[in-house]
Amino acid sequence: MKNCRLLILGLVIAVVSMGFVSIAAAGPIVIKFSHVVAENTPKGQMANKFKALAEKRLPGKVVVEVFPNSQLFGDNKVLEAMLLGDVQMACPSLSKFKKYTKVLQLYDLPFLFKDMDAVGRFQQGPYGQKMLSSLESKGLIGLGYLHNGLKQLSSNSPLRVPADAKGKKFRIMSSDVLAAQFEAVGAMPLKKPFSEVFTLLQTKAIDGQENTWSNIYSKKFYEVQPYITESNHGLLDYMVITSAQFWKGLPADVRTELKKCLDEAIAFGNKVSAEKAIADRQKIIDSKRSEIVELTPAQRQQWVAKMKPVWKKFEGQIGKDYIDAAIAANK
Ligand code: SIN
Repeated sequence: MKNCRLLILGLVIAVVSMGFVSIAAAGPIVIKFSHVVAENTPKGQMANKFKALAEKRLPGKVVVEVFPNSQLFGDNKVLEAMLLGDVQMACPSLSKFKKYTKVLQLYDLPFLFKDMDAVGRFQQGPYGQKMLSSLESKGLIGLGYLHNGLKQLSSNSPLRVPADAKGKKFRIMSSDVLAAQFEAVGAMPLKKPFSEVFTLLQTKAIDGQENTWSNIYSKKFYEVQPYITESNHGLLDYMVITSAQFWKGLPADVRTELKKCLDEAIAFGNKVSAEKAIADRQKIIDSKRSEIVELTPAQRQQWVAKMKPVWKKFEGQIGKDYIDAAIAANK
């Protein structure tokens, strides 16, 4: 009798624990979304919008955990972490993929796109779309592009002509094109993570950096940089990335819905980016902490003349047809 009771108890425990296992296995899919910027930026707002849409449309099926401000991973580690399954989505700057593909270097070429509409036209065209799959051989999938905007040059002294940058140290993202761009004006580029930029500027370990209005504002670079040259010389744009293993392993209906949510979140983020380029610039002017240096057409032409030869240096790695397609998008 005692043995019989023990057997029943054993069976109950087994059934309950099997049930538990199956409940746990049927629990929501958790998507960790890691990024390095503040929440009040185009990328921060896009990620939060994606979370809101995905959790509303796939209730109980998907949970999105957003980690801003490099809380989970910096951009130099996030792609490795993704391949290990420690994070499922990220949105690094296109300047940070050098280890994985060379073609994306196109987006760092100085003075390539005349404005953000041209960037959008190029990205929606065949070359831009092809670039989304340039990471597939490395196990990563590009799900879409997100804009931040055009970059400006901030510094501890006014930069009007290229000679003003000579001998100065500038923080750059991990891009050889950006290194070549600063070397072309006799400056010293230093590849450093985004999370370190404010301290490097504040302690005067570096003289300047390049970034968009929203990053300069949200990370308070303008408080420690008395001059910002409105150069619009380069682009800061992003790719939303996931791992092929994670994405292809999702149930088809969930994957389709997530992609729709992401497309909507990106459209929202792009609207935010256009608004912030104007609003954050104005907030910096109003703060009176930093003076905006406007270039005359002749001064701007000097920067173009010095920096544009960088294109030739990287043409072989990027592909001339890609560069030509980008130029064509300006028309
Ligand atoms: C970002 O906008 O994601 C960071 C850009 C940077 O590293 O300067």
